[in-house]
Amino acid sequence: MSTPHNRAQKGDFAATVLMPGDPLRAKFIADTFLENPRLVTDVRGMLGFTGTYEGRPVSVMGSGMGMPSIGIYSYELYTQYGVENIIRIGSAGSYTDKARLFDVVLATGAYSESSYALTQSGDGADIQLPDPELNEALRASAAAQNIPLIEGVIHSSDVFYREPSGEKPLYWERLRDEKGCVAVEMESFALFHNARVLGKRAACLLTISDSFVSPEITTPEQRQTSFTAMMKVALGVQL
Ligand code: ADE
Repeated sequence: MSTPHNRAQKGDFAATVLMPGDPLRAKFIADTFLENPRLVTDVRGMLGFTGTYEGRPVSVMGSGMGMPSIGIYSYELYTQYGVENIIRIGSAGSYTDKARLFDVVLATGAYSESSYALTQSGDGADIQLPDPELNEALRASAAAQNIPLIEGVIHSSDVFYREPSGEKPLYWERLRDEKGCVAVEMESFALFHNARVLGKRAACLLTISDSFVSPEITTPEQRQTSFTAMMKVALGVQL
């Protein structure tokens, strides 16, 4: 078997899949953190690997950028490959000084203006939720490793480059103040929605890579350290 977007065979994916946006990041994670990783799919360069971490089977696969992309890959993982848990691991831009550069954020909800859920299943809700048990397992993993987590609702945006509108407050200040959004990324709303309609589990961990509040230059070393902290939380999850 295979799908139009995935050449893996049944049984090639573990029950838990970590999904970074970037497929080369999936390869880096597999090479760096997994024992005996093997490539299971590479259709359109969207690399997926399966191996073990501390003896537990785990897969890692790129999601691509944006909700249409993660919508396709996550739907097929859940429906065709028996995947039960998807943990998105990504980066985000902070809307608040409570989430500082390199902090690790655990999403408690994903707000979006996106029509993804409405189109996919008729669900008109503008917030989609992660699985509570998966979030609890991620909290336990972080606590066991002394890695602090910032928790909050995130904004899943369809648009990276927005034209300035001149409105005051700025759109992101409104999303922060009215919807409680702490940071912006581009995928979790669709992922959480797919998990819920399919009776599966999803969660999202993010490292803050840029800030709308206090723009700062960051170094690759700083980004690597916070990325490693996020990876330890995701990989340490006991399900
Ligand atoms: N991911 C990381 N930074 C982002 C931003 N500023 N907007 C959307 N997604 C992001």
